Amino acid sequence: MNTNILIAMKKLEPITLKGAKEDISLPVYQGTYGKPGIDVTQLGASGYFSYDPGYASTISTASAITYIDGEKGVLLYRGYPIEELAEHSSYLETCYLLLFGELPSDKEFKEFSGIVQRHTMIHEKMRDFINGFRVDAHPMAIVCGMIGALSAFYHDSLDISNKDHRTISAFRLIAKMPTIAAVAYKYSRGEPILYPRNDLSYSENFLYMMFGNPCEEYVSNPLFVKAMDVIFTLHADHEQNASTSTVRMAGSTGANPFACIAAGVAALWGPAHGGANEAVVNMLEAIGEGDDKNIDNYIKRAKDPEDPFRLMGFGHRVYKNYDPRAKVLKKICHDVLEATDSENSEMLRIAQKLEKIALEDEYFIERKLYPNVDFYSGIILKAMGIPVNMFTVIFALGRTVGWIAHWDEMISNTYRIGRPQQIYTGPTKRSYPKK
Ligand code: SDX
Repeated sequence: MNTNILIAMKKLEPITLKGAKEDISLPVYQGTYGKPGIDVTQLGASGYFSYDPGYASTISTASAITYIDGEKGVLLYRGYPIEELAEHSSYLETCYLLLFGELPSDKEFKEFSGIVQRHTMIHEKMRDFINGFRVDAHPMAIVCGMIGALSAFYHDSLDISNKDHRTISAFRLIAKMPTIAAVAYKYSRGEPILYPRNDLSYSENFLYMMFGNPCEEYVSNPLFVKAMDVIFTLHADHEQNASTSTVRMAGSTGANPFACIAAGVAALWGPAHGGANEAVVNMLEAIGEGDDKNIDNYIKRAKDPEDPFRLMGFGHRVYKNYDPRAKVLKKICHDVLEATDSENSEMLRIAQKLEKIALEDEYFIERKLYPNVDFYSGIILKAMGIPVNMFTVIFALGRTVGWIAHWDEMISNTYRIGRPQQIYTGPTKRSYPKK
């Protein structure tokens, strides 16, 4: 699990900044694709710093893992278009690609998936851990806690400078995330927790642990297995998004891999990020309580600068075009709803009407706001019988490999502890009042 990312950057003509006392020449780098970056690492020495809250104009690192062209709606994992991976690959093969940089041979994949299968069980003592949660705890709280707790069970692989420790931790996290996710679901329903089955594929095993029971044979709907696997693949990685940047920040302090991934889970939970899929279904259900005029009301609210409401599942920091993942999910949504004849077809109808109105509205057009990965994913998951409060857990499960790949890429190359500066706007220096 190692890629030398810096060979891909080439130097362009430097730019000169007019400083107060003297001009500052700043190097400019260009990667394989995408916008060039001005190297401001030395800017601080001139007494100036860049100011960019939310990092909308800041490149935090070079990376060889994923590339997004937001204008064209392109997403590549190690150079492969997401649409092709969704159609021809599997989540586990995509995990290998993201971690090792190349698609595996049949032999390599057999070995990789065999190792993952041997790590799907969690320590029996983690069952005591889960019993400490209230039964109505949000599954994301349980998953966040249990991922962090893995560092209490695997003291044998916490040396981040040891490549073998990083590799076994990657296998453990990818293998145990579905088990932990299913445990959180079963616990919340008071149902028996099932052990993983090594005779099932990755996604089939997850659905078995979610919906199976010890009293009878459970066979997943093959359409659901494929849909689940594609959903994991589509969520696997996405450059330096908020949760991946959180994992990198935690990793830059030398924290152990389980602590770093737990930080990523926590960051993903927010409704502006991975929590949006849950928020989309809640929004569509609220709209559905009224007649279609309610759609216009929600669109109006989304456009009102005084109203904090935003159209969940719409807009993106990078995509200023249709999120390619949303296109794949829209097709899966039709296939799953057709097969389930689910009452969710009303929800899909509302979603499509909402999308049509928004895409023709000047406000959304002007701001280049399109459906993102979260707009359709929740409808599919709901139709598959997955409860709304598990949606972000599903996102976290898929994204685990991306978080690990970025963490390993950083640790395998030179890095410094992340420590941004600030502009201080507090009170001037003052003395403590003498009593
Ligand atoms: C994910 O980064 C990633 O890669 C994330 C992700 C991944 O795979 O990791 O793709 C996953 O997080 C997808 C996004 C899920 N979130 C949502 O669907 C929540 C709703 N969308 C937004 O809150 C918003 O669009 C963000 C957070 C996604 C992006 O916010 P930005 O880039 O900070 O954009 P902004 O807030 O500066 O908005 C620009 C303008 C503003 O209007 P003006 O001030 O210019 O008048 O667009 C408006 C915003 O008010 N706007 C929206 C809107 N999103 C932006 N208006 C209504 N509804 C929306 N959804």
